[in-house]
Amino acid sequence: MSNRTTDNIRPRGVLTRMKPYSPGKPIWEVQRELGIEKVTKLASNENPIGPSPLAIQAIQAYLTDIHRYPDADTLDLCAAIARKLEVAPEQVLVTNGADELITLLSETFLEEGDEVIVPSPTFSEYEFGANLMGAQIVEVPLREDYRYEIADLLAAVTDKTKLLYICSPNNPTGTYLKKQDLYALMDKLPPHVLVIFDGAYSHFVTADDYCDGLELVRQGYPLIVTQTFSKVYGLAGIRVGYGIASATILHNIRQVKEPFNVNALAQVGAVAAIQDDAHLEATRDMNALGRERLYDDLQELGFKFTRSMSNFVLVELGPDAKSIYDQLMRKGVILRYAGAWNLPHHVRISIGTPDDHQVLINALREVLQESKEQLALSTQKD
Ligand SMILES: Cc1ncc(COP(=O)(O)O)c(C=O)c1O
Repeated sequence: MSNRTTDNIRPRGVLTRMKPYSPGKPIWEVQRELGIEKVTKLASNENPIGPSPLAIQAIQAYLTDIHRYPDADTLDLCAAIARKLEVAPEQVLVTNGADELITLLSETFLEEGDEVIVPSPTFSEYEFGANLMGAQIVEVPLREDYRYEIADLLAAVTDKTKLLYICSPNNPTGTYLKKQDLYALMDKLPPHVLVIFDGAYSHFVTADDYCDGLELVRQGYPLIVTQTFSKVYGLAGIRVGYGIASATILHNIRQVKEPFNVNALAQVGAVAAIQDDAHLEATRDMNALGRERLYDDLQELGFKFTRSMSNFVLVELGPDAKSIYDQLMRKGVILRYAGAWNLPHHVRISIGTPDDHQVLINALREVLQESKEQLALSTQKD
């Protein structure tokens, strides 16, 4: 028998536990599959007004230098982030999206059998990182209206707990941990637990009792704040995220990081974007208005939703949620179906431009009308 076969090559055992990430459906895929030209994507919490014009200019100006390797230490970008967030440059680590940082944190701190506390439902990459390293996930369900209860998180801690994730505002619920609760949690946790405070959506929060975690890093708590250029800064396509923590924690993570993890165009684009306050403010303002408008229209249509501090809203469409999601897709509107979070009656809707919003609401009205007509037809037949 020929030995030319790959059938006996065995991947690591932990891979059997790993579910592939299911991203929002891209615009091109819907265009190709359904033959629709105009597609409105409200599925991945991207910036609906696009990237900062300053970032585009900076990237264009850098193009002739892309034959050179990028700065492995991302010094200019660390300095720009440090200035903006009022931390020392040594307290900043830049990565290929915040996703990479979550994997790096797992590779740095997790051994097989360690425990990772993950509230539920939340962003799935935390589980991915833990599974990758053979660690155990300890899920802590959020309470009513997806509220964080710190007593539940504390009760889940054991001697084996290494990491505890807090996503605030949380994806997909839009709910957040109040400042007083964050301090109470940090003060009560045993010192061997590193808290990962995922602030991917911090910039969209308008509540006064919110805390983005940065002041706790400045005070020396064992906490890393992760943020991203993919959301408010509109640079999801070039992949830049970062962590803010003590220099010691970041030193540990640097030991497992690839040297050139952030490409040169991403670095110059991000340096420009973080200085573009006008773009940031325009994005936040549009989001705050868009969120209210979405609430009003959902209320009028009779749907329940969770009030959000982010750039998306979790909406309960009921038992027909998957069918409504599919029908909207056929009309060129992409939402995120929440089945993967074990919320089969829900969708998550990203806040878009006023035009995106109108397209969504018109399409939703059409879908509901068509369902009514079909129901009437089928009861006539009966
Ligand atoms: C809560 C949360 N954290 C992190 C990320 C990852 O962001 P990035 O695009 O920087 O990898 C996302 C992306 O959707 C997210 O929702």
